[in-house]
Amino acid sequence: MRNFFLVILTSIFICTNIFAAGEATKPLKVDWSFNGFFGKFDRAQLQRGYQVYKEVCASCHSMRYLSYRNLSEVGGPEFSIAEVKAIASSFQIKDGPNEDGEMFERNGLPKDRFVSPYPNEKAARAANGGAYPPDMSVLVKARAGGANYIYSVLMGYDEKPPSNMKIEEGVYYNKYMAGNKIRMSQPLVDGSVTYSDGTKPTVSQMSKDVTAFLTWTAEPHLEKRKRIGFKTILYLLIFSILVFLSMKKIWSRIETKM
Ligand code: HEC
Repeated sequence: MRNFFLVILTSIFICTNIFAAGEATKPLKVDWSFNGFFGKFDRAQLQRGYQVYKEVCASCHSMRYLSYRNLSEVGGPEFSIAEVKAIASSFQIKDGPNEDGEMFERNGLPKDRFVSPYPNEKAARAANGGAYPPDMSVLVKARAGGANYIYSVLMGYDEKPPSNMKIEEGVYYNKYMAGNKIRMSQPLVDGSVTYSDGTKPTVSQMSKDVTAFLTWTAEPHLEKRKRIGFKTILYLLIFSILVFLSMKKIWSRIETKM
């Protein structure tokens, strides 16, 4: 019996150590405006985040599930219709075939999906040394740790790798990535973009902005969900009070003998 317990304990010890080996540091915690029960997106931040995505990340990461018109939807960055038209028309879209059976390029329209940087996954890998830059539409939802994790990866490039760690060519040390290695070089440096609202484009600021934007793309109805959640709880609360009061009233007519 004792041996049995010893074997179990040792296996648990070994297992936890194996899992701990490749584990990344716990993500940084950010006080997001969309956290909590009453959380909401900060419109200006979402607009800045879109700018960072467009000017930096979009050269490698696609955003397949988003159309330009989504950028004007309530609960999102809420660009005006005119702004969305201007944004869309700055992209070239492959369309066709026309009457002669040929494909042609035209300016983008609000109904078009975001243009992808590569025609397919193979082309994306070929251009990135074999690594695949994941589609960003739902990335925040697809990663445990969500927004805090994405922010942390963007902030996790500063430190030198531990001396016993081998870092191959084209691989970078990142404190927050599982296994501490990532095949994306640090995408943001101070001043990577110029904000028109005067916000200082530090790495931390741009990382927060783009992460907020990616949180919205992954959950465009976050604000609505929180609003409905609040109303539902309020309703249930009032309902419970009414039920409690009527129960009191009904039972008040019945004598209780102990
Ligand atoms: C030069 C191309 C390139 C650019 C620009 C780029 N990335 Fe990446 N990114 C990659 C590649 C390649 C990977 C896959 C890395 C891997 O699998 O190790 C990746 C992976 C990621 C990951 C995934 C981490 C995970 O858990 O899988 C995140 C988050 C990310 N990028 C965010 C961004 C953001 C935000 C920007 C813009 C500020 C950006 N990237 C710009 C190439 C790029």
